[in-house]
Amino acid sequence: MQQVELVDEFLKVFGQKPTRLYFSPGRINLIGEHIDYNGGQVFPCAISLGIYGAVSRRSDRRFCFYSANFSELGTIEVDLADLKYVQTDFWVNYAKGMLYSLLVNGYQLDHGLNIYVNGNIPDGAGLSSSAALEMLIGIIVKDQFKLNISKLALVKLGVKTENEFIGVNSGVMDQFAVALSQKDQAILLDTTTLAYQQVPLKLADNLIVIMNTNKRRELADSKYNERRKECEQALQILQNQLKLDSLSDLDSVTLDEYSYLLPLKLLKRTRHVVSENNRTLLAKTALEDGDLARFGRLINASHVSLEYDYEVTGKELDTLVHAAWQQPGVLGARMTGAGFGGCAIALVQKEQVTAFQEQVGAIYEQKIGYPPSFYLAETADGAKVWQ
Ligand code: GLA
Repeated sequence: MQQVELVDEFLKVFGQKPTRLYFSPGRINLIGEHIDYNGGQVFPCAISLGIYGAVSRRSDRRFCFYSANFSELGTIEVDLADLKYVQTDFWVNYAKGMLYSLLVNGYQLDHGLNIYVNGNIPDGAGLSSSAALEMLIGIIVKDQFKLNISKLALVKLGVKTENEFIGVNSGVMDQFAVALSQKDQAILLDTTTLAYQQVPLKLADNLIVIMNTNKRRELADSKYNERRKECEQALQILQNQLKLDSLSDLDSVTLDEYSYLLPLKLLKRTRHVVSENNRTLLAKTALEDGDLARFGRLINASHVSLEYDYEVTGKELDTLVHAAWQQPGVLGARMTGAGFGGCAIALVQKEQVTAFQEQVGAIYEQKIGYPPSFYLAETADGAKVWQ
């Protein structure tokens, strides 16, 4: 999207020019799935698909929102004194949640804003459009009101918004990646301590292809909260015998020794958490060593574990990923994000990318009945002022 386009669009809706433009990216997770709420290591990066925002100041205490992606909703006005979840406000609830979280945490917002957004993250595709929106609003408010608030504090308010305002018990990974990523780097994040490390994403002659199942996934409707509960149950059972703060404190030998305590379903969930945590660290080392073949195999193993032990893939994601594994020039492929639909990623040799998309697309369409979509992932900086 061009800056002039965004300015023009804003002008059409609000009858004046915006004073500032912003951008907030989506994210993919390279590896470390469904362990950010189990204290594990995750390895995401921000991508150039994201949400653009344009803003002007209002003299009253109302926030006026307009999204080019939901133009049928028109402008939605929100009073700072009345920040409640209203189902028919759709996407604006994420913005309201952020404003609410800021206010209850003592930040002063003494006037309103006009906010126009236009995003190119496919909706419901597991690329974190909701975290991108939360961090966009966070960065806008920080900048417009000159708030003394760190990006990490905005991340935490984003998670609070998601958990308490929207009702999805998600972890910290998405908001963290969206806010703190840097171009050409992935972030290894320890979700227990929130210590993190930027790791150069050196992929040699390979590209990351994002494969969208085009099966919509709403986190709130998915089995996400159910999986989280299962992990809590497993942890409780194990804590009777072991000193553990989270499932990620376990190593595979200890889990094996105490596996008799867990019913099969909970054992499978725990096995995923423990193996995925370990794989993420191995994958980060493989990437640093330039051993992309190993990095790719670890990505494959992550999918296997999510398919058989954590059971969050489903027919569409499995079809895409299994088809990807068969193609020449593919180093690895796995689902990314929460699963149950949404997107997968594949690491593919540049010169094979066109053939890869044709072959995987044909296999998927033949089995599932409609085509997938493909995007080439480019990394991006975290949420920021664009101009
Ligand atoms: C969603 C959540 C994240 C994380 C992933 C699975 O994206 O928002 O917190 O749990 O699923 O890894």
